[in-house]
Amino acid sequence: MKKIIALVLSLSLIFSLSACKDNKSSPSSLNESSQTTITTAVQESKDDTTKTEKYLDTSLSIDDRVADLLSKMTLEQKAAQMVQAEQTYSNKNDMKKYCFGSVLSGGGSVPNNDNSIANWSSFVDDLQTGCEESKVPIPFLYGIDSVHGHNTVSNAVIFPHNIGIGAANDKELTYKMGEAVANEMKLTKTLWSFSPCIAVSLDPRWGRTYESYSSDTSIVTSLATEFSKGLLDNGVMPTAKHYLADGATTYGTGEKNKLVDRGDAQMTDAELREKYLPPYKALIDAGVKTVMPSFSSFNGVKMHANKYLITDVLKGELGFDGFVISDWEAINSLGGKDLSENVIISTNAGVDMFMQPYQAADVMKSIVNAVENGKITKERVDDAVTRILRVKMEMGLFEDPMQKNTKSKVTELGSDEYRDIAKQLVEKSLVMVKNEGNVLPLKKGTKIFITGPAINDIGVQCGGWSLSWQGKTDSANGRPITKGTTILDGFKEYAKEYGLEIITDEKKASQADVVILGIGEIPYAEFEGDTKDLSITGEKALPGNKKAIELAKSLNKPTVTLILAGRNVLINDYINDWDSVVMCYLPGTEGDGIASVLLNEKPFSGKLPMPWYKSLNNIATDKADVQFQLGYGLTY
Ligand code: GLC
Repeated sequence: MKKIIALVLSLSLIFSLSACKDNKSSPSSLNESSQTTITTAVQESKDDTTKTEKYLDTSLSIDDRVADLLSKMTLEQKAAQMVQAEQTYSNKNDMKKYCFGSVLSGGGSVPNNDNSIANWSSFVDDLQTGCEESKVPIPFLYGIDSVHGHNTVSNAVIFPHNIGIGAANDKELTYKMGEAVANEMKLTKTLWSFSPCIAVSLDPRWGRTYESYSSDTSIVTSLATEFSKGLLDNGVMPTAKHYLADGATTYGTGEKNKLVDRGDAQMTDAELREKYLPPYKALIDAGVKTVMPSFSSFNGVKMHANKYLITDVLKGELGFDGFVISDWEAINSLGGKDLSENVIISTNAGVDMFMQPYQAADVMKSIVNAVENGKITKERVDDAVTRILRVKMEMGLFEDPMQKNTKSKVTELGSDEYRDIAKQLVEKSLVMVKNEGNVLPLKKGTKIFITGPAINDIGVQCGGWSLSWQGKTDSANGRPITKGTTILDGFKEYAKEYGLEIITDEKKASQADVVILGIGEIPYAEFEGDTKDLSITGEKALPGNKKAIELAKSLNKPTVTLILAGRNVLINDYINDWDSVVMCYLPGTEGDGIASVLLNEKPFSGKLPMPWYKSLNNIATDKADVQFQLGYGLTY
C-alpha cells in the first residue's frame, strides 16, 4: 500500500512540476514510470518525452527537425530568436522568459568582470539553464570577438593581427591558429566567433586596416578560408565580416565625424563582385554559416538596408543558408524614425538576427508588432528563424546544450603548444624592407642598445581588441595587459646562446655596436584608428617615438628600426637614418619571435600584404607614391 501511495505522490508531484517547466515531460510519459524516486522518474519522463519531440530526433533531417520546432513556436518565441543581447544585460530569468537567440560580449566585456574560466563557464551555464527551462527550450549561442586569439580573456594566446597573418601568408599555420583559438574559446563555452574580418583593405588611413589580411583578394580568400576551417573543425562557428567592401570606403565619407570607417564604397557592381565577393563565396563553401553586414554603404545604400546585396546576392546567388547577424547597433543609423522602423527596414533587407545589445526585448516586440501590422511578413520571420535554428542544430547545440561533451583539446589558456604556433606566426609575419650593410642578422657577441616605446610593451604588441575594445599599452595599464613576452624579453632569452650584451641604459648607449629602435602606434580599434596623418610620428604614434628616433640618430651607429603598427605607416622622413627596417605589424603576446629572426634563429620570409606608401599623394590609387610594393620583403 505504502509503495502505491509513494508512486501516486511522486507522479502527482512530477505532473505538477512538469506542467510549469516545459512541455518535455508530457503526462503520457508518466504512465510508464515505475516505483522510482522523483528525480529518476522526472529524468525518465524527460528522456522519454525528449525522444517523442520530432525536433530532437537526430535520425530525422535537420530541415524536418527545424520545421517541427518552428511549428511549435509562437511569434514571440520566433522573434526572440532574432535578437542578441549583450552579456551585461543578460541573466537566467530573462533567458527563461524570452529564450533569446544569442548573447554576446562586446569588446572587452567580461561577465561579472571576472576573467576566470570558471566564471565564464558558470555564467554561460546559467544563461543556458534559463533557456532550457523556457517554454520551448532552444539553446542560445554566445558570440565574441576572438579576432586574433581569445583576446577578451586573460592569459589567452594573442596572435598577430590579420595584417601580420597576411604578411606570413602561411596556410597551414593559419589553420592551426583557428584550431588554437577555437579550443581556447571552448574553455569558456563561447562557441561563436565574430571572425574572420575578410575586408580587402585599400586605404591605410582606415582604423581597421590591421583587421584585414591584405589588399589582395586572393590572399584574403586563402587565409580566411584556412582560419575558418580551423575554427569549424574544432566546433566554433566563424562569422564572415563585414559584408560587403568594408575596407574600400572612400576617404572622407566616414559616418558622422569619421574619416574612413563606416563610409561609402563607391564602385561598379562588376568591381564589387570581382574584388570583394570571392572571400564570401569561399567561406560559404567552407561551411561558414554567419555573415555580418558592414556599417558602411555601397554607392550610398547602407549595407544593413541593402536587400539586393544581402537577399538577392548573398542568399540568392551565393546560396548562403546560414543567418545574417547585424553589427553593434548598426541599424540605428538606417534613417528610420525609430527602432521599430529600422528593424523593419533591416529585416526586410535580409538581416536575420539583431545585435542590439541593450534593446533585445524592444527589438523582439518590434518584430512581433511589425508582423501583426503586416510590415514584416510571417514568411520572412519564419525564414530568419529557420536559418538560426538550422545553424544551432548543425552545431549540435540541441544534443549538448550545456556542453557537457564539448571538450577542448587544452585544459588551460596559454598552453606552450599554442604559444609556439603564435610565435611561428610572429616570425613569419616580420617583413624586412631595408638592410643596408647587412646589419642584420645580428652577429654573435654583438652589444646592442635597445630603446624606444615599443620594445618592452605587450599592449603595444597586441594593439586593439586585446583585453579591451581599444586595447591599452602596458604603461597606461600600469602592468602588462596579459601574459606574454616582449621584444626585450626575446633578446634576453637568446642573449646567452648568442653572446649578446644588452644595453638599455641610455648613458651606456655609446658602448653599443648596434642600436635596436622599437617604435610604433598606440593601440586603437575601428574608427578610433582612422587618421589623416599616417606618419610614424603622427597622431596615432606612440608618445615616445620622436624622442627615441632622435636619440638613435644622435648615436650615429648602425640602427635597426622595428615598427609595431597596424598598417604601413609613413616613414619617408626617417628611413634614410636607418640601416635596417623591419615591419612587425601587431605581433601579439609572443614578442620573442622578433629576436629569433633578428638573430637568424629563424629566417625572414614575410612579404608586404599591402603596398607601403611614401606619401599621402593619391594614396591607395594607381597614381600613388609607393615606397615598397605589395609582396616586397627581403631575406638573409
Ligand atoms: C563592432 C564591430 C564588429 C564586432 C561587433 C561586436 O562594432 O564592427 O566587428 O564584431 O561590434 O563587438
